[in-house]
Amino acid sequence: MSKILIIDDEVMITTTLATLIEMMLDYEVFTSNNPKDLIESGLLDREKIDLVISDFIMPYMNGLELLSLIKEKQPNIVPILLTGYSDKESAIKSINDLGLYYYLEKPWDNNELIKIIQNGIDKARLEDELKHKLVVIEKKNTEISRLYELLRRDYDKEMDNVLEFIISLSNLVEAKDAYTDNHTRRVADLAIALGRMSQLNKQQLRNVEIGAMIHDIGKVSTPELILNKPGPLTPDEFEVMKQHPEAGAKVIKPISALENATALVLSHHEKLDGSGYPNGLKGDEISIETRIVTIADIFDALYTDRPYRKGMSLEKAMAILNEDVARGKLDPTIVGHLETLMNSGELAKIYDGN
Ligand SMILES: [Fe+2]
Repeated sequence: MSKILIIDDEVMITTTLATLIEMMLDYEVFTSNNPKDLIESGLLDREKIDLVISDFIMPYMNGLELLSLIKEKQPNIVPILLTGYSDKESAIKSINDLGLYYYLEKPWDNNELIKIIQNGIDKARLEDELKHKLVVIEKKNTEISRLYELLRRDYDKEMDNVLEFIISLSNLVEAKDAYTDNHTRRVADLAIALGRMSQLNKQQLRNVEIGAMIHDIGKVSTPELILNKPGPLTPDEFEVMKQHPEAGAKVIKPISALENATALVLSHHEKLDGSGYPNGLKGDEISIETRIVTIADIFDALYTDRPYRKGMSLEKAMAILNEDVARGKLDPTIVGHLETLMNSGELAKIYDGN
């Protein structure tokens, strides 16, 4: 039940108001005829009052002083000032200062008074509900943030596991292929550098790194005799070699965390002019991430030692890449980035580090 407090130094007024409110509204009413008595009674510490109606001119302190004192104790209370006509000015001023809900002039109109009290109580109740809801929302937000943080940690942990797994996979290929020592790590570092220059976002860069690390995973199914042959492959042998992108995509397909790397593994030997394998993709059918890994892979294969030849000079390797650009096979912008890396000495740093 809502609680109302009435303070007026005239007993007639408090009695009349109390009777009126009790008759018209189902509220509990407290009355007081002296601010000093009210404060000393401890009522304000005992009861949570919803609405207070106070007279203006009273002994000990005036209505505004009393209302502000009451608001300090009970900030959610709805304050109404009951004024004589002559006090109207100060009442209006205090509407903002005190957060006065209403001021009523004596003599009041009973119907108007009841309506104002009811609206005041409703307003307080709505504010209360709103506050309560805000608290609930705040709590939920905190809980969501906590769960999100847990999920993120789980995800990071899972990604760490996945990365470890990827390194194991790439080690597996390198153990089998005698000449790819650290090839995948170098391709990954180079591809990340090219990815950054191509303005890839964080997610794309991660794909590029993972894709580069495992691009040749399908070579686990390529016979070692072909993989490590110290000379050019026969057409038949090359056909077998060409199966490794599809074999690799098949290996990683069931791993959901590697979903985005599948296209990279499958398409890292595709060329923009459609002359690549396994699907003869063309132009835009090959993602920028894949184009980057392809170029990093080719460059590393040319620049480092192979089963049947020594690695080429930087300039020679770059010249071959540029020939492929001229033939419409490789992305000119990415090869341009590689040239920038070469000229700035960044490329040498990647190779010194690996
Ligand atoms: Fe490959």
